[in-house]
Amino acid sequence: MRTHVTTELNGEVTEFLCEPRQTLLEVLRDVLDLTGTKEGCGTGDCGACSVIVDGRVVCSCLMLAVEAEGHRLTTIEGLADRDRLHPLQRKFLEHAALQCGICTPGFIVAGKALLERNPDPTDTEIRYWLAGNLCRCTGYDKIVTAVKDAAVAMRKG
Ligand code: FES
Ligand code: FES
Repeated sequence: MRTHVTTELNGEVTEFLCEPRQTLLEVLRDVLDLTGTKEGCGTGDCGACSVIVDGRVVCSCLMLAVEAEGHRLTTIEGLADRDRLHPLQRKFLEHAALQCGICTPGFIVAGKALLERNPDPTDTEIRYWLAGNLCRCTGYDKIVTAVKDAAVAMRKG
């Protein structure tokens, strides 16, 4: 039997039906068509599936969709303001901080949660914060630079 779930997803009240065993990742991608959130490992190790739940970064492959009831979720689709990319998205492009791009939504979502808590992080703080996000293609230096530069852009407004 499917369960009815109501959440706030990317600023909109969103309702869906899901099986009790379905992960949030499956529902985001297969029920709600929000395919920006990626599946890497499916076991909580890579961070490709990161979303923000009530301000905390969560691996959506480890969270059941029914657990989203009553919570506030942000996915990569919630970052841009219509055609205007979020500063993190812009800086990842400018610094070429991606190759295949599978890890990128997870890094950007995790970066957003970091900059909401700490608008001026050091390189070390960025590296610690992003330690749960793995990239198998590109070097981490460009990713750290992109997050740092986005922080500067966001502080300037
Ligand atoms: S797919 Fe969820 S952590 Fe890798
Ligand atoms: S750009 Fe390919 S996994 Fe990070």
